[in-house]
Amino acid sequence: MTIALVTGGSRGIGRAIGIALAQAGHDVAINFAGREDDALETIRLMEQAAAMVPGGKTVPAARFLSVRADLADPRQCENLYATVERELGAAGILVNNAGITRDGLIMRMSVEDFDAVLDVNLRAAFLLIKAVSRSMLKARYGHIVNIASVVGLTGNAGQANYSASKAGLIGLTKTAAREFASRGVTVNAVAPGFIDTAMTNVLSEETRADFLEGIPLKRVGAPEDIAQTVAFLCSGAADYITGQVIAVDGGMTI
Ligand code: NAI
Repeated sequence: MTIALVTGGSRGIGRAIGIALAQAGHDVAINFAGREDDALETIRLMEQAAAMVPGGKTVPAARFLSVRADLADPRQCENLYATVERELGAAGILVNNAGITRDGLIMRMSVEDFDAVLDVNLRAAFLLIKAVSRSMLKARYGHIVNIASVVGLTGNAGQANYSASKAGLIGLTKTAAREFASRGVTVNAVAPGFIDTAMTNVLSEETRADFLEGIPLKRVGAPEDIAQTVAFLCSGAADYITGQVIAVDGGMTI
């Protein structure tokens, strides 16, 4: 099967994406910046998922890898892909999922907080797309999925840096889709709404209730909601979809 690289795969949405791709039979490398035991737990869950395929058959020898790399550093982005290529082989799937927030109103936002968010959420995605493009274009095969956000479409008070990074990711997605289309490489974005992860656990009950009010399906999303969409976009069933932004948000942006 295909070799997949998922950034920020140690927890939350990235972990669920790794598991969904393992379930689909792919070899998966995850990257992380935080706690190694979280990354090792993702590896364990991916191994478990790969061992169970419909009909009770076992997928032969899927391989999993975790690589520590701080994607705020351009050199570590390049080294990350070099490590994946060396250990597993050229990637046919790239999911740019790693992301951070440094919220604050524009009047009070420091240039450091603006740059820190852009570096991880947007520049790292560009560098990794660049890194995988050589082998994907040569192989005339590849699926790239960028995890954006509904706030990249709508904006959000207090998130100038974050929403600019996600809007930038959408522009990057559409441009890469146009550049790579003639070689059969698809590039899409998924825009999650409010998903239950460590990133959103820090919000107050009041803020959560406010968000819920604006979600027609009346529940917050689960990481698996995003992972299933990503797995679809990385499958042959989605070969004719490119340059799209799919909101997975319970109807928040209707
Ligand atoms: P999370 O905070 O639970 O996980 C983030 C992951 O990114 C972790 O694995 C972490 O190790 C990694 N990461 C952070 N900084 C890094 C760095 N400098 N270098 C390498 N890896 C780094 O976040 P969550 O909620 O799982 O979010 C995943 C993606 O989904 C992010 O891009 C986020 O912006 C996006 N998203 C999340 C939403 C939510 O409601 N949770 C809503 C919309 C988008």
